[in-house]
Amino acid sequence: MGIRNIRKDNDPILRKKSRKVEKFDERLFTLLDDMADTMYLANGVGLAAVQVGVLRRVVVIDTGDGIMELINPEIVETEGAQCEEEGCLSLPGRNNVTFRPMSVTVRAQNRDGNWCLYKGEGLKARAFCHELDHLDGVLFIDRLATEDQIKEYPSNEDEEE
Ligand code: NI
Repeated sequence: MGIRNIRKDNDPILRKKSRKVEKFDERLFTLLDDMADTMYLANGVGLAAVQVGVLRRVVVIDTGDGIMELINPEIVETEGAQCEEEGCLSLPGRNNVTFRPMSVTVRAQNRDGNWCLYKGEGLKARAFCHELDHLDGVLFIDRLATEDQIKEYPSNEDEEE
């Protein structure tokens, strides 16, 4: 287990832009493993490398169906919209409703350096957007839904998450 310290609140690193991964080496594999351990210990569904103080374009996500390791990820397609409550391990106690696409397709490299496509809806689409935003220094509090958006796209997730 490699647990790393999660950067929080007003830590200025959270607003910095992460750099592309060029080397797929042991150092990257250790980072990915540590990020997964850190995310699971904190009961999160996603974590970006910047949140553990590493300014590289690396994300891990698990919305309940296994770990996804996304390296140099980019959004290639979005569809629809949703307003749901969102939180962030770096911003404890600040959960709030965001405006996000309902369906998102991401292109990313895996740890072997191969490009893959990942499609997600609902929670997984939110996780893609949330974690990829981290790579550009954007936080979910920058994406809060307006009253009008909440009226137009009422929550589909009234049951507990
Ligand atoms: Ni976050």
